Amino acid sequence: MDTRAHADAERELIETAKRVLPGGTFGNVPAEIVIREGRGGRVWDESGNEYVDFLLGSGPMLVGHAHPEVTAAVEAQIPKGTTYFANNRQGIALAEAIVEAVPCADKVRFLCTGTEADLYAMRAARAFRKRSKIMKFEGGYHGMSDYALMSLAPKRPGNSSRPLPDSAGIPESVRDEMLIAPFNDVEATQSLIREHKDELAGVIVEPFQRIIPPAPGFLQALRKMTAEHGIPLIFDEVVTGFRLAYGGAQEYYGVTPDLCTLGKVIGGGFAVAAVAGREEIMAHFDRATKGDEDFLFQIGTLSGNPVGAVAGLTTLEILKRPGAYERIFATGRELMGLLRDALGRAGIPAKVTGEPPLFDIVFTSGEIRNYRDTLAGDAETMRQFNKLLRERGIMKGESKYYVSLAHTAEDIRFTKDAWADALDELVALRKARG
Ligand SMILES: Cc1ncc(COP(=O)(O)O)c(C=O)c1O
Repeated sequence: MDTRAHADAERELIETAKRVLPGGTFGNVPAEIVIREGRGGRVWDESGNEYVDFLLGSGPMLVGHAHPEVTAAVEAQIPKGTTYFANNRQGIALAEAIVEAVPCADKVRFLCTGTEADLYAMRAARAFRKRSKIMKFEGGYHGMSDYALMSLAPKRPGNSSRPLPDSAGIPESVRDEMLIAPFNDVEATQSLIREHKDELAGVIVEPFQRIIPPAPGFLQALRKMTAEHGIPLIFDEVVTGFRLAYGGAQEYYGVTPDLCTLGKVIGGGFAVAAVAGREEIMAHFDRATKGDEDFLFQIGTLSGNPVGAVAGLTTLEILKRPGAYERIFATGRELMGLLRDALGRAGIPAKVTGEPPLFDIVFTSGEIRNYRDTLAGDAETMRQFNKLLRERGIMKGESKYYVSLAHTAEDIRFTKDAWADALDELVALRKARG
């Protein structure tokens, strides 16, 4: 347990959760905290403790919790019905906004989660290439499907391109369908693509992998080598879409893939995700164009529902206004600088890595270029630091600070003080440990 004040009501909820949920949680964050509400860049727990929120619902709340315009749009939609399982004006407008913004997007297919979007993007690449193997990168996160849970977080990664499953319950045969490459390593990726070009259906990559930016030229090289062999390149933009820039990582890094997946921000806090991409690949979702043989079967009960669509559309409208990205980047840049300074003063070897809208620390003195470099980080110190921060009113995920348009100068000041105080205690704890 941490040392925040726990009111009886929150303690009771935690006990109930432990009785009715495996591990007492929804599977995402520890059971010892129950959130009551969020507004702007802050959240409150059921005991009334207030936090500056860098978790942001794991990313969707880029414009802040309960943004008044998003709330109004959703409230206006609800009395008209929440889902129709049929085309609607709101979903069509969201698809149009995505096509206008995202360089690779000729067409859009809606899903409800990033996991589904990645699953169907891989299926679309297979349908198009008429082959089955997909290459992903070690440490790359593409949701929770059997295919995606290959070498996401291997504890003892080996030296081969053969994947290691991250979960129980995955058929052994799935390992034969995936190939694993090292992120940011052009040469190794190139030679794997050359060796397997005739079996490869596609390559999926987080263009900004977790908190690791692409090395200069890496995405360009990946684009070139996949295009040379006609292999579809999929950017997983579930995190980066409308976050690194209005047109996502493909705009920000200047590399256009064949397909991309979107989620989080495009739903404005509701369950909306999408596959978007080139006309000729997206055509596989259309039986009339492709015929029975090449048709990619995909249906979803809540896909394109109007509530998620208006929440997403309103969020995009807010982000499109002049100065929105400048503000997110300025906040993130200031926070990254303050964190670097605080770590330097504390004398703890650590690297701040990421881009201003999304970053964190790895407690190591080495460079961070791929998953294995992050494994070299001191995980126990990270866990301790996150806990000390939570006790000081900072909410964040295990390894990410998500920056919001709603974070204020006061939030930055509060966070700076919390970092300094938590690092003092961390130094003391490390001394005591010897
Ligand atoms: C890069 C990336 N892809 C896919 C997903 C899966 O999205 P969801 O949790 O909506 O299934 C996530 C979730 O965090 C993600 O970070």
